[in-house]
Amino acid sequence: MKSDEIEETRAFWNRVADDWDTQVGDEGDSNRFLNSDPVLWEFAGEVKDLTVLDAGCGTGYLSRKLHERGAKVIGTDFSRRMIQVAQSKAPSMDFRIDSCNELKTVADSSIDMIISNYVLMDTPDLEGTMKAFSRVLKPGGIAIVIFSHPCFPQGRATSFGNEENIDYHWTFPYFQQEKCIDPAWGHFTSEFIWFHRPLSDYWKAFKTAGFDVTDFEEPRITEKRYRLAENKRQLRNSRTRPYSVAFKLRKIKKSS
Ligand SMILES: C[S@@+](CC[C@H](N)C(=O)[O-])C[C@H]1O[C@@H](n2cnc3c(N)ncnc32)[C@H](O)[C@@H]1O
Repeated sequence: MKSDEIEETRAFWNRVADDWDTQVGDEGDSNRFLNSDPVLWEFAGEVKDLTVLDAGCGTGYLSRKLHERGAKVIGTDFSRRMIQVAQSKAPSMDFRIDSCNELKTVADSSIDMIISNYVLMDTPDLEGTMKAFSRVLKPGGIAIVIFSHPCFPQGRATSFGNEENIDYHWTFPYFQQEKCIDPAWGHFTSEFIWFHRPLSDYWKAFKTAGFDVTDFEEPRITEKRYRLAENKRQLRNSRTRPYSVAFKLRKIKKSS
């Protein structure tokens, strides 16, 4: 079942890859730029000379930023089209077609840091992915995983009144794992496939794969970045909506 879902999601990401590049460009979209990237860089610290795996790199904006900061970057994604776009933008960088739940092209205990930015809610195989992350990390290595907030799915949010009132609409029990298909949003023309899991299932998958949680954040805009918001709506949403969760994990042992 999981391999069918992997192929279905891979085909979906191949279809939307070019639109994805429009979405994130070179700086990340507004949610990344205003809210989660600052947390990501704080969790990552100095990356110069570290071997960093950008797992689920998409069209590679973050891989390029890591490269600019002096990291030795490997970018992997299971979508051939994502990797083609990423490679065309940075021909000398190391991009590979590889699935997060396998990481066949990455040797055991070879990576200092994994960054997986908005990928875990998109992969059907969370446990396999965390196991593969653990396998390729050196002992004590760090994984930074940022993913859409499972408690407040923005595709299911309706705002009304002064727009500070928001309803989150659930068609299934929160505690149930569920494959979700959301309507196309913004400039996208395709529906979005993603996988809901309660927050505690993520936590359990991290522990089972041999990770300790060393930091956690629900990224939001900080006051010094208010001026970077393009308009009032963007600022209000960045101040009030929990778009994502960010975990900093440390590999403590082999996965069980
Ligand atoms: C929301 S996009 C994020 C892309 C990029 N990290 C960014 O922040 O722009 C999710 C990415 O995860 C990739 N992805 C989803 N499931 C994957 C899997 N099992 N293995 C590898 N890549 C996967 C998709 O192809 C897509 O590029």
